[in-house]
Amino acid sequence: MKNSMKMVISSVILLLGLVGCQTGFAQDKTVKDGVFTAAQVDSGARVYDSSCKTCHDMRFYRDTLKSWNNQPLLFLWETVMGTMPADNPGSLMLEEYTDVIAYILSENGFPAGEAKLDPDNGMESIHILTP
Ligand code: HEC
Repeated sequence: MKNSMKMVISSVILLLGLVGCQTGFAQDKTVKDGVFTAAQVDSGARVYDSSCKTCHDMRFYRDTLKSWNNQPLLFLWETVMGTMPADNPGSLMLEEYTDVIAYILSENGFPAGEAKLDPDNGMESIHILTP
């Protein structure tokens, strides 16, 4: 093979690699990237106090988050929505479930940011990442 041809091929491979990396990067969003807003945390705190506090303390969520390490945040949201509050599953509004997840993340040291957490928008590509 001619050298120039080799150059072209290796450039193409390099380019594909770069594109691949960027796609990988977008999927690698984690709960450390400011994926909920401070306003969601505020309303989540109210939901939590009235609907979750009686059965779980924050220590429980710390351990729970660990067991969900590397899982998409959407799966946790779906689980909580489908099973909690244990005495009346699915009784909250979808937005309240989202806000309470934001509150739990915030209480566990993850930062708020500009983007609103939204189960219909990219939450399957945000991963839970515990220390
Ligand atoms: C009536 C009691 C009760 C209430 C109220 C309640 N939970 Fe639970 N929750 C449970 C029990 C029981 C379990 C299962 C415990 C276990 O796995 O050790 C559980 C498990 C969970 C889990 C772990 C799920 C998993 O599969 O990892 C999460 C997260 C959770 N609850 C969040 C919430 C949130 C958020 C609220 C408020 C919207 C809430 N719970 C309200 C009793 C309750």
